Amino acid sequence: MSRLLRIKPMSMLSQEAGEVGENTLKRSLSSLNLITLGIGAIIGAGIFVLTGQAAANHAGPAVSLSFVMAGIVCGFAGLCYAEFASIIPIAGSAYTYGYATLGEFVAWIIGWDLVLEYAFGAATVASGWSGYLNSLLQQLHIYIPPQLCATPGTQLVFFNERWMPLATLPAGVDPSQLQHATGIFNLVAMLAIIAISTVLVIGIKESANLNTVIVIVKLGIVGIFLVLGGYFIVRHPSLAFHNWHPFFPPPDGHGNFGYMGIATGASSIFFAYIGFDAVSTAAQEAKNPQKDMPIGILGSLVVCTVLYILVSTVLTGLVNYKALNVADPVAMGIDATGVSWGSLLVKVGAVFGLGTVMLGMLLGQSRVFFSMSKDGLLPKWASAIHPKFRTPWISTIVVGAVVAFMPAFLPIDRLSELVNIGTLLAFTIVCAGVWVLRVRHPDMHRPFKTPLVPLVPILGILTALFLMSRLPAITWTVMILWLFAGLVIYFGYSIKHSKVQALPTAAEGD
Ligand code: ALA
Repeated sequence: MSRLLRIKPMSMLSQEAGEVGENTLKRSLSSLNLITLGIGAIIGAGIFVLTGQAAANHAGPAVSLSFVMAGIVCGFAGLCYAEFASIIPIAGSAYTYGYATLGEFVAWIIGWDLVLEYAFGAATVASGWSGYLNSLLQQLHIYIPPQLCATPGTQLVFFNERWMPLATLPAGVDPSQLQHATGIFNLVAMLAIIAISTVLVIGIKESANLNTVIVIVKLGIVGIFLVLGGYFIVRHPSLAFHNWHPFFPPPDGHGNFGYMGIATGASSIFFAYIGFDAVSTAAQEAKNPQKDMPIGILGSLVVCTVLYILVSTVLTGLVNYKALNVADPVAMGIDATGVSWGSLLVKVGAVFGLGTVMLGMLLGQSRVFFSMSKDGLLPKWASAIHPKFRTPWISTIVVGAVVAFMPAFLPIDRLSELVNIGTLLAFTIVCAGVWVLRVRHPDMHRPFKTPLVPLVPILGILTALFLMSRLPAITWTVMILWLFAGLVIYFGYSIKHSKVQALPTAAEGD
């Protein structure tokens, strides 16, 4: 039992954090760079795609309150991440924090669980990306065979010069009059993951400047949406009030709509917030991590929360929530204003913007595997560096190859729910870790302190568990099976090869 609880000594972590020289990452990111990095990783398929599904299927116009609720949950976790990132400014994120506080077994669980966040997250975004790319191309009258843009068995119809799932056909349209097709697999999403993995192997030098440009484009598009949409609503208030009414549609008896629909919606759009924690993986590239990591994590979270609440309010005012279950709801919203160039702009922005989210997630995944392999918990190939490109190429290829199949065959809502449950589990462990570290090492120097400990970590744990409880049984089942597979690997391989297990016991007291 004591072997499972062995922690990675703080001295070992400080040594890794303090390493300098050719083989270490360059400390070049300012607090503003970190905020933009966070926004770049956060704003993606969640707001551009899932908002529509959450409004149509779970919360109605009250989806804006779902964003408030999910933002509060992330706020508690964000405060805990900020404390850890300021104390342990090295890559690896929640996995590393868990290793330093709750022991190797919990660290393994988080590391394995983070696959659900990063690998499945990249797959979800790829699915959303293919929806926007397709919609953009169709607007330009370029048609990819519809069978290769949808998951197997999805029934598609050709309506209004575009292919769409039969299930999203507006009420009152007779499908028997339309051309039909059946999805074979989503080749477009698959190719997106393959392309980005290739870029990562060749070694994209994560350029803070390029990221900043794309973030400005993304924020610009969200801004244009808010201005055009807001102006339209001010000029047509009766339409918006009609769409916002009833704000809480009648409950359907399955946890959707009504007041409980806010929570069901929050557990679904929680995906939109994922990414602020990715700032913590850049800790080794921050100029002044102890001060700037908390600013980066919390700053990006605050900016996105405000934008999400505004976007969802405007969107449900422009289009009736029942019609929002489409692949490109924000573009649909801007279409409703009658500004013809608006939706084209949104689609172009989404295609670029979602690209950086996929890149960040696949990068995060290979870094977590890299850290785990360095610690001996995964085989050495996972931290093998390509002699020319200097990237963890094998783990990137393995991750890319597996992830490429996910969006090709699985629908986006199922994928995103799995990402949400995995991330929420990581949040609960990080919150618990902050509390444990306060008890074990009360006098440790903490450049950023989570306020009101243990209240904030406890609220973080309870609210995350609450959102998890709103996710469907199938999502729980898959997560449990996933964690079970992780246990088999841990006991079959990791515990025997762990470097921390090989340390003399006294080293842990550091
Ligand atoms: N928050 C990211 C997105 O919405 C993962 O795409």
